[in-house]
Amino acid sequence: MQQIQAYQNILEERIQKLTLPESPKNLYDPLRYFLTLGGKRTRPSLTMLACSLFGEPGIKAVNAAMAVELFHNFTLIHDDIMDDAPLRRGQQTVHEKWNKDIAILSGDVLFVEAYALLAQHEPAVLAPLLAVFSRTAREVCEGQQMDMDFESLSTVTIDAYIEMIRLKTSVLLGAALEMGAIVAGVDSRDDIQNIYDFGVNIGLAFQMHDDILDVYADPKKFGKQVGGDILSNKKTFMLLKAYELADEETKKALDQQLLEGNEEDKVQKVTAIFDQLGIKEVAEAQKELFYQNALEKMNRINVPEENKKELLGLAKYLMSRDH
Ligand code: IPE
Ligand code: IPE
Ligand code: MG
Ligand code: MG
Ligand code: MG
Repeated sequence: MQQIQAYQNILEERIQKLTLPESPKNLYDPLRYFLTLGGKRTRPSLTMLACSLFGEPGIKAVNAAMAVELFHNFTLIHDDIMDDAPLRRGQQTVHEKWNKDIAILSGDVLFVEAYALLAQHEPAVLAPLLAVFSRTAREVCEGQQMDMDFESLSTVTIDAYIEMIRLKTSVLLGAALEMGAIVAGVDSRDDIQNIYDFGVNIGLAFQMHDDILDVYADPKKFGKQVGGDILSNKKTFMLLKAYELADEETKKALDQQLLEGNEEDKVQKVTAIFDQLGIKEVAEAQKELFYQNALEKMNRINVPEENKKELLGLAKYLMSRDH
């Protein structure tokens, strides 16, 4: 995995060198804070690796990659307000350390910066890049709204859950890759579609893994609050499956936790029900299906097999990450 390491070093350096004004401090300090907390830099790595997959140096796509990472960070700052999350990347969330108003506005600035970086690409590729990026940004908002709406719905289907995670998470991984391919000058419609679909399926598996970690991660490594999804009644695959597999008595116990479970033992009680029903294994199996779909899409892409190694390595790592 040498190439990805080199790309991540470039990305870290670019993030360090982002020139943000000193004032107003309450607008820019939160961003300096948030951007240097770490983060896996998965999406911008995908953009650079996709460019290189199609035979062009990944560095050519660095501005698109940075745009994707800044957009992602914007969504995280706002997502943490919406999810009432105390922790991100092992530190206090922006709205906890400052306040919600500050988190909203500093998040907005990142979104604007993302467009400014994207706009640095040459005119020949700018129109398609903007089209993919704007479509995807809107879809992420749609997915986020569905995620929030589902919190207070009792009947959510597995299909609706999959559509929700496709929008809130997976399309951004697909778009990150597609943008790298666009910068590389790919003109085969099939290759563009397959690299996008590879990303979307990796994204579906990635969000499934994220939902599993939210219940089962080691709190020392996770960097986020374990059990947050259970506390806010998120309709994850695991919860929906639990309802599907539970007997009447267990369903009632779940209902009771969702309606009136208290902070102290709700996470522990719902997790115990998941354990009893073997939900983690069912979720892992579904995740594996998405991962296999992704591999199949990659198989269809017309480039030397050698070129695929780094992307496949990253995809594999994402399936077993601990944070
Ligand atoms: C978190 O994404 C948001 C989800 C879509 C689950 P990451 O797990 O990629 O977050 P960072 O950027 O590495 O912190
Ligand atoms: C992430 O969903 C979706 C976006 C940030 C758009 P989550 O709410 O599960 O992400 P985490 O777990 O807070 O990172
Ligand atoms: Mg969320
Ligand atoms: Mg969240
Ligand atoms: Mg999550």
